[in-house]
Amino acid sequence: MDEASRITTVDEIPEDSSFLFTVRDGFDLEEAILVRLADGVVAFENYCPHWTDVRLDTGSGAEMRNDELVCTKHGATFERDTGYCTYGPCEGATVDEIDVTVAEGVVYLTDDDYEFEQTGPSGDHDLSSRGRIGFSGN
Ligand code: FES
Repeated sequence: MDEASRITTVDEIPEDSSFLFTVRDGFDLEEAILVRLADGVVAFENYCPHWTDVRLDTGSGAEMRNDELVCTKHGATFERDTGYCTYGPCEGATVDEIDVTVAEGVVYLTDDDYEFEQTGPSGDHDLSSRGRIGFSGN
């Protein structure tokens, strides 16, 4: 595996929340989250399909309830293994997945659309707010 695509270790991902990291898509930075599963790890883009400028993980881990990810804005819930919205205003939608691979306890980004940038937030957001920061209106 390529060290440049190393995100973190599986042990660093909380079992009842998410691990935030940032990827690069050309000139753009995008946030993503790692979620632990019973048999591995899955990664999603860090947004809610209801309002795509709302982040599931605002910097301190996504809310997790009954084994599902929760958007705290309007309470939508998502299957932790698929990102499928089971309840809420975006029911039936799915959060986009990002390809990752685990090798010897280390998680690597393996999605051809992105390069690994850093762990943590992209820096484009005000972490003190859970509001609609940076909404561009387009
Ligand atoms: S913004 Fe996530 S449920 Fe409305």
